[in-house]
Amino acid sequence: MTIQVRSPLHDQESIEIPAAVANLSKPFNGSVSSGKGDEYSIKNNIIDLINVEKSYTLAQSTNHWKITASVYEDLWRKRSLTLLTGEDFPIEKEKELLLEWVKPRAGGVYMDVGCSTALYSRLLKKAEPKSVQVAIDFSKAMLLEARLKAEADETDIYFIRADAREMPFFANTFDGVVMGGTLNELTDELKVLFECHRVLKENGNMFMMHLIKADHWAGRLLQESAEWGGIKFWTVDESNELFARAGFVAEEQITKGIVCFSKLKSI
Ligand SMILES: C[S@@+](CC[C@H](N)C(=O)[O-])C[C@H]1O[C@@H](n2cnc3c(N)ncnc32)[C@H](O)[C@@H]1O
Repeated sequence: MTIQVRSPLHDQESIEIPAAVANLSKPFNGSVSSGKGDEYSIKNNIIDLINVEKSYTLAQSTNHWKITASVYEDLWRKRSLTLLTGEDFPIEKEKELLLEWVKPRAGGVYMDVGCSTALYSRLLKKAEPKSVQVAIDFSKAMLLEARLKAEADETDIYFIRADAREMPFFANTFDGVVMGGTLNELTDELKVLFECHRVLKENGNMFMMHLIKADHWAGRLLQESAEWGGIKFWTVDESNELFARAGFVAEEQITKGIVCFSKLKSI
């Protein structure tokens, strides 16, 4: 299935992305353009829709390093929830919750925002091979690593380099939006949540996993040092207030340690 993206320069213009771009077993190189002539490159199946680079926080900059991208999933992501929830929390457990709340369906279109190595997109695609998965990130290094992992897993995914603050999609595009751990790293988190709300279909929902403020002094001390690098933390109430400002309400919510899982729907 082809997908339509919105031109980053001309917001009325659509750009059609050929289905072959998501077929990761065959390298795709080329370009796409809108009717107004603005052109975007596709290298190794990754569509680059960023034409003006913005500045990054320290935490965001590290995600642009090849070394971070190559070790992120195996060294950190697979263990992180066990460390942060304080209980045995393998990826399998997170996957159960993801699939139960998102319920990917054949023909449904889903987006992973700030995908890093696109763990969520791969899990959704494996669960429903006839769904369409779109994974966005502004880090080239992360997208390259995500592409390698998805090809190895035989999960075809559209990889788009884009800024989540200005999503290159039209309103009501996605049946589901997923965000794993990205909220804490964003600058302009409200703007990104507004964008998620805009591109989500009326009956769609958003799966959110984010970190909340620790209630123990030692945890807070650690979080305060992370805040220097641009990472933000909220209490559950503050998080829900943020979601509400963007037009979401938590239909379901589970908190374990400093990890909060929410199933958000539009108000
Ligand atoms: C914590 S990692 C995400 C982890 C991933 N979702 C997972 O479940 O393993 C945050 C990612 O968000 C990306 N990111 C941060 N701000 C962004 C923005 N404004 N637009 C696109 N990507 C962004 C970073 O490059 C990084 O790869």
